[in-house]
Amino acid sequence: MTPTPWANQTSITTFLLLGFGDLTEVQMLLFVVFLVIYTITLAGNLLIVVLVVADRHLHTPMYVFLGNLSFLETCYTSVSAPRLLAGLVGEDRTISFQDCITQLFFLSALACIECFLLAAMAYDRYLAICNPLNYNVVMNLRVCLQLVLASWVSGFAATAFVVAMVHQLSFCGPNEINNFFCDMEELLKLSCRKSPLVEMVVLVACSLVTLVPFLFIVVSYVLILSAILRISSSAGRHKAFSTCTSHLLVVSLYYGTIIIMYVVPSAERSPAFHKALSTMYTVVTPMFNPIIYSLRNKEVKGAFRKVVLQKLDPT
Ligand SMILES: *[C@@H]1O[C@H](CO)[C@@H](O)[C@H](O)[C@H]1NC(C)=O
Repeated sequence: MTPTPWANQTSITTFLLLGFGDLTEVQMLLFVVFLVIYTITLAGNLLIVVLVVADRHLHTPMYVFLGNLSFLETCYTSVSAPRLLAGLVGEDRTISFQDCITQLFFLSALACIECFLLAAMAYDRYLAICNPLNYNVVMNLRVCLQLVLASWVSGFAATAFVVAMVHQLSFCGPNEINNFFCDMEELLKLSCRKSPLVEMVVLVACSLVTLVPFLFIVVSYVLILSAILRISSSAGRHKAFSTCTSHLLVVSLYYGTIIIMYVVPSAERSPAFHKALSTMYTVVTPMFNPIIYSLRNKEVKGAFRKVVLQKLDPT
C-alpha cells in the first residue's frame, strides 16, 4: 500500500472552518441575516431569563425549566455564532486544535443537556395533567432544582468522556472542516488513523443521550393526550392542552432536526444539506423558543408587561 501523502507529517495544530466560504457572492447578506438572528436569539432568551427570575408569579417548575432552557440556548448559540459571523466578514477562518475541541465539548454538552431538560419539562407537564392532585408533592422547586442540576452534571460528564476520546485521536491533515463550527462528524472524518472504537462510543453515546429522552417525551405525551381525551368538557380539554402546546412545539422543532440527521445517514448528505441542518439546530431553533413561548403564553406576556413596560413607563 502506498502511504498517504500526509502520513508522516507531524500532527496538525489548527483546523480551517470552511463555513459558508463557497458562497462568495452572498457573504455580506449571510452576515446580516445571521447577525439579525443572533441578536433576536440573545434578546429573546435573555428576556425570558430576566422575566422568570424577576417575576414571582413565574416561580413555578414550568417556568423555572423554561428559564433554564432559555439560558441554555443563549450559551448554545454563543458558542457557535460569533465565529460564524467572523468567518463571514473575512476574518481568519482557522481555529486552533484546542479551541476546536473546546467548542466541540461545549456544543455537545449543551445539546445533551437540552435533551435532558426537554425530558424533565415533559415529565413536569405529565405530572400536572395526569396527576394534578399530587402535583405539588411530586414536583416543586426543590425537585426542579435537582432535575436541572442532574441535567447539567450528567450532560457535562457524558460529553467530557466522549470528547476526551476524540481528543486522543491523531490528526495529521487534511485540516479542513466543511462546516462553520467544529462538528463531531467532520472531526472523526479527519482523524488520520480510523478508530472504530471511538466512532462506536460516539455513536452509542449520541444515540443514548438523544433517543432515551426522546422516548421518554413520546411516552409522556401519549399519556398526556390520553388523559386529555378523557376530559369530558371541551373547554377543560382545551385548557389542559394549552399548557403543553408550547413545549410540544419546541420539542418538535428540536427533535425534528435530530431525526432528519438520524434518518438521512451522513454519507448520503450533501455538504450543503449538512450545513443547512447544522444552521438549523445551532442558529435557527434557539431563536424560535422564546418566540413560541412568549406568543402563546399569557403568563409570560403578563410578566413582560409588569417587569419591562412598567419600568419604562411607571405611570
Ligand atoms: C434554573 O433552575 C434553577 C434550579 O431550579 C433555578 O433556581 C433558576 O432560577 C433557574 N434559572 C432560570 C434563569 O430560570
